[in-house]
Amino acid sequence: MTTHHLIVAMSPADHGLRSQLSRTASALGASVAFLQLGSPTLGTELTRLAEAGAERIVLVAVTTSRLSPGVSWLRRIADAWWREHGDRPPQLATAQRLFRSLDELEVLWTEATQRATPVRGTGPGLQSEAWEQVPRHRHQVLVCRGPRCTAAGAERSTEALVMELMRHELGDDDVLITHTGCQFPCNHAPVMSVQPDDVWYGKVDPDTAREIVDTHLRTGVPTGNQLSRTRAR
Ligand code: FES
Repeated sequence: MTTHHLIVAMSPADHGLRSQLSRTASALGASVAFLQLGSPTLGTELTRLAEAGAERIVLVAVTTSRLSPGVSWLRRIADAWWREHGDRPPQLATAQRLFRSLDELEVLWTEATQRATPVRGTGPGLQSEAWEQVPRHRHQVLVCRGPRCTAAGAERSTEALVMELMRHELGDDDVLITHTGCQFPCNHAPVMSVQPDDVWYGKVDPDTAREIVDTHLRTGVPTGNQLSRTRAR
C-alpha cells in the first residue's frame, strides 16, 4: 500500500511559515497543506494525492499559534472530504496530537505517524446544527491577516484580543472574530476594523487590542488609535 504523509498547517498565522514548512516536509518525505487561508488547501492536496495514486494518507497537524483549532477540526474536514470523494477514497488517518513547533514535529515524527488514528467518514462531519444560522453578535471584528499586518505582528495582537474577550466571558454571541486578507490601509499595520460601527484601528499592538475589548467592545465607545478616512469626492 502506498502511504503518503501530509503536514497540515492549522491556523491562519501558519501561512507565514510556508518556507520552513516546505523544508521540514521535504526532509520528512511529506507534503504540506493549509487548513485555513493558505494554499494548497487540505481538500486540494488530498484530491491531488488521491489522483496520484496514494492509497493511504497520514495527516499530521502543526501550528505555531495559540489560536489554532485542535486535531478534532482536522478530522472533521478530512472526514467530510472522505465522504465526498467518490467510490474509492484513499484511507485517511490523523496523528493524535497537534504539534506546536516544527522541531518537535521532526523529533516525534515516526512515533506520531505510526500511531495515527483512522478517519472513516463516520464522524460528525460538517453538518452541526450550530452552523446552520448566522450567529447572533453585537460586533464583528475584522482582523487583517494580509502580508503587511501579518509581518507587523497581527498574530500577537489577535491573541491578546481573544484572551481579553475570554477574560470578560464574551463569546461569539457578543463578538465574532473574522480573519481577512488585506483591508488596504497597510501603512497602519496591524489593522482591525469593528463592524457594524465601521470604526477602523491601526497600529494595533497587544495593548491596543486589549483596550479595544475593554472600551469599544464592552461599552460601545470607540477608543483612540482610530484611522482617519478619506473624504468622499
Ligand atoms: S495587509 Fe493589512 S491592511 Fe494591508
